[in-house]
Amino acid sequence: MNQFLKEVLQDLSQTQKSLNSKYFYDGKGDKLFQEIMDCPEYYPTNCEKEIFRDRTTDLAIALKNGFNTFDLIEMGAGDATKSSYLLKELIDTKVDFTYMPIDISSAMIVHLEQSLPEKIEGLKVHGLNGEYFEMLEKANHISFRKKVVLLLGGNIGNETPENAIEFCRKIRASLQEGDLVLVGFDLKKNPRTILAAYNDAAGFTRDFNLNLLHRINNELDGDFDTEQFEHYPTYDPVTGACKSYLVSRIEQEVRISGQSFHFKENEPIYMEISQKYSVEETEEMAKIAGFKSVAHFFDHKKWFVDTVWQCI
Ligand code: AVJ
Repeated sequence: MNQFLKEVLQDLSQTQKSLNSKYFYDGKGDKLFQEIMDCPEYYPTNCEKEIFRDRTTDLAIALKNGFNTFDLIEMGAGDATKSSYLLKELIDTKVDFTYMPIDISSAMIVHLEQSLPEKIEGLKVHGLNGEYFEMLEKANHISFRKKVVLLLGGNIGNETPENAIEFCRKIRASLQEGDLVLVGFDLKKNPRTILAAYNDAAGFTRDFNLNLLHRINNELDGDFDTEQFEHYPTYDPVTGACKSYLVSRIEQEVRISGQSFHFKENEPIYMEISQKYSVEETEEMAKIAGFKSVAHFFDHKKWFVDTVWQCI
């Protein structure tokens, strides 16, 4: 049985039904996330882009850390728009490095290996197509240089704080003392600003969530009636958890690959967490996971931080 089907059947069989947001990103999901990033309410991408565009020199200095040769690994590179600023700066300052983007999408890796060296002359790209930690292991077999790892986009926010610590520990375990990690965190801010970013007026975030039900229908022989599920985004300013649910409008049965699931009226499916942090909480996480926090780069509103951690 494929992994996707296995997880879906398992997650919908629990008392608290859930689905994993890592499955949001099929072709349609990629497009919807693009639309979300273009929404006026969705601020994280613009904040982090501002950091990479306006603080490029200082970022590069922090990541070079006095060295002129290392390898740069990016976990979940996507189209590498933000990192391109940094890549160009490293080339311009004559750093000897290979850029190793890791992405789950093979199309994206092929595209990066092709387009980046055309855009940035002299750039060496070695794409790694697969899951984060398997590819990090692979990078360790290819390269014996000092390493800098990028984890941008607030992707770490899609883990609960508990799992995020585990995740960072695993990164630490695959690196050497002195290696650096740049992690992007979306910060706690006015709760209305956060909630609006996950509840855009145009409805792209709603469609992004509902798209996973369509994907299950198409790929796993499901029969979700997406009209009968309502998108319900929430933000808790105490815990910093921004969570989205799809709530069943009626009592209904849904079949997936021959298995039947019962939904009560108003029963929620927990879809995604986008955890928000305080700077202090990110520093605490660094410590617990085996890093020393060495630099912070903020956008001008201080809504987002790219923080540099050193392995100790
Ligand atoms: C791609 C994980 C950074 O959590 O903000 C956007 C995904 N979900 N709107 C985020 C997302 C709903 C996004 N990340």
